[in-house]
Amino acid sequence: MNFNSRTKIGLGTWRMGESAMTQSSEIEAIEHAVTIGYRLIDTAEMYANGQAETLIGKALKNLGPSARSSLTLVSKVLPSNASTHGVIKACEASLRRLGCEYLDLYLLHWKGSYTFDQTIEGFLKLKDRGLIKHHGVSNFDVSDLKKWSDTEKLMGLTPSESSTTNQVYYSLSARGIEFDLAPHLAREKISLMAYSPIDAGELMRNKGLGMLAASLNITAAQLALAWAVRHANTVAIPKSVSKSRIEENWASKDLSLSPQTLAALDNLFPPPRAKTRLAVI
Ligand SMILES: NC(=O)c1ccc[n+]([C@@H]2O[C@H](COP(=O)([O-])OP(=O)(O)OC[C@H]3O[C@@H](n4cnc5c(N)ncnc54)[C@H](OP(=O)(O)O)[C@@H]3O)[C@@H](O)[C@H]2O)c1
Repeated sequence: MNFNSRTKIGLGTWRMGESAMTQSSEIEAIEHAVTIGYRLIDTAEMYANGQAETLIGKALKNLGPSARSSLTLVSKVLPSNASTHGVIKACEASLRRLGCEYLDLYLLHWKGSYTFDQTIEGFLKLKDRGLIKHHGVSNFDVSDLKKWSDTEKLMGLTPSESSTTNQVYYSLSARGIEFDLAPHLAREKISLMAYSPIDAGELMRNKGLGMLAASLNITAAQLALAWAVRHANTVAIPKSVSKSRIEENWASKDLSLSPQTLAALDNLFPPPRAKTRLAVI
């Protein structure tokens, strides 16, 4: 699927909906993100047992009928639900919670015990009914992705009907995918959706990153996000429930980093020199 400048930075929603005490401020945060221009929201049936999807549904209702069509809405099916029938049931439940008629992108959250053809068959049936527009995977390294793509080919899917996205952990502190997965995605024209792009907030503690960002008059989060989405067909989905941080993160989509800054970042966070196991959170 084609991401554009307005979907380069999306909103993550993991850990939203976990407490009744914070739900109204989380709904407001989602509304704020859409109001200031976010056009991509990432969620999953797993997050707070569906409550994150429910909060997004409430925010979209408050925003009014035109909000949904302007958004790219992404959700994920748990591996334990990834049988053909299970994928369909899980998607229907996600859509009920979201109060939406379709998902733009539906991902297998990670590989489980169901065979890939069973899951893909579920995605195809959902597409036939107009319940999802695109499908993809998450937490897939090169070998699994190749097997997944081979299965799609065997099932007769054309490139435009095949997986569009792999959502993986990618941040300055988790660069392992640059060794082979990221080049593979680029070759296969599969989008990279970077999760935990500011390392769940941990990167903010890095002194070197903070100093480099300050020298550029931007924040460490903005530098980390601008770096994460520096290549075409790559988007990042930072999560925040703070309106000011949502704005701060959004502004990073307009930053471009000089070769000197990229070199300084390579110095602080060296790129991989060998294959490493795919990092997951
Ligand atoms: N597919 C998968 O297996 C998978 C795994 C993990 C995550 N994800 C997706 O990716 C999204 C993002 O990942 P994540 O939530 O793990 O981590 P993240 O986006 O890297 O970091 C989120 C954390 O950083 C804080 N934060 C956000 N913006 C900040 C800023 N500008 N300055 C300082 N702190 C900031 C947030 O706190 P506040 O909310 O208080 O601002 C939160 O604690 C998730 O929400 C989820 O949608 C997918």
